[in-house]
Amino acid sequence: SDIEKGTYPHFMLKEIDEQPFVMRKIINEYQTEDSELKLDKNVRQAMKDCDRIYIIAAGTSYHAGLVGKAFIEKLANIPVEVHIASEFSYNMPLLSVKPLFIFISQSGETADSRAVLVRIKEMGHPALTITNVPGSTLSREADYTLNLYAGPEIAVASTKAYTAQIAVLAILAVDTAKAKCLELDFDPMQELAIVANAMEVLTDQKETIEELARDYLSKTRNAFFIGRSTDYYVCMEAALKLKEISYIQAEGFAGGELKHGTIALIEEGTPVIAISTQENVNYSIRGNVQEVVARGANDMVISMKGLEQDTDAFVIPQVHELLTPLVSVVPMQLLAYYAALHRDCDVDKPRNLAKSVTVE
Ligand code: G6P
Repeated sequence: SDIEKGTYPHFMLKEIDEQPFVMRKIINEYQTEDSELKLDKNVRQAMKDCDRIYIIAAGTSYHAGLVGKAFIEKLANIPVEVHIASEFSYNMPLLSVKPLFIFISQSGETADSRAVLVRIKEMGHPALTITNVPGSTLSREADYTLNLYAGPEIAVASTKAYTAQIAVLAILAVDTAKAKCLELDFDPMQELAIVANAMEVLTDQKETIEELARDYLSKTRNAFFIGRSTDYYVCMEAALKLKEISYIQAEGFAGGELKHGTIALIEEGTPVIAISTQENVNYSIRGNVQEVVARGANDMVISMKGLEQDTDAFVIPQVHELLTPLVSVVPMQLLAYYAALHRDCDVDKPRNLAKSVTVE
């Protein structure tokens, strides 16, 4: 490959570190010189015309879609469903009258997503692809494309593409809200600039995260991530990152669901990593932490400034409550990275996985 690691031992670490720059690149690319949002006006029209959005994606891109759903529903007031591409084909939901399909794909080549695109184009529905590779299959075959501007992502475990997808979805949601003349007190570019700075603070704290990874994850067989609301979606992504490169059996759970089954798995020393960035669920997720600690769990709370407690393992800088996934995911990526290193795993090329899966 022409892309070099430079002084980095792995592409994954380089790509984690690139995230603040990707945020700033996205801010520049989606803004005019007079600081207005700059988006393909056909995309704007398609967003205005639809009565429901169907987000289709796989893996990490699916997790970004879950976060994007919240932006589009809260800011642009359009109902959104998020579907795993491979499942959509078997269980196609009843579609609305004017659906818009949004395909989220780093590579733009995922066969499961393409199968859905082919099918919905046959049905005559409009499609927008959000991808890091503008000339890719999903980009060419959709009606519209939004570019992620993340630069080539080489490591199999996706990092900067995930945060780029979330940032572009936030911009898309705000652009739609403006096009629909909706009330809005959220300046995405200003908030994303704050996010970029916060990411930098985090990538400067690698030693602290490495220690946490060593203490909690170097020996364990399994690990659980718990969160509520938007933190739950980040937990799903955190668990996927850990599974992919460290082979630790990991799962992300909604805090409130613990008592309905998962808590049975908690034993003496089981690592439970809790994310708390949302004021409205801070109290309840901390209740869940107490419940697992009472059963012997080795807890690690990662909270956002303003919601922190003395016993928390790590505190992330404060950002807008809608954008917390962009920041809370960074320590999760680094935890997975260092856990894999401590377990002598091949970080950039994990077993059994491919960067882009072009078979169904
Ligand atoms: C593969 C990769 C994942 C990725 C998924 C979707 O399974 O290993 O990291 O999230 O495909 O890829 P896409 O390119 O469509 O985002």
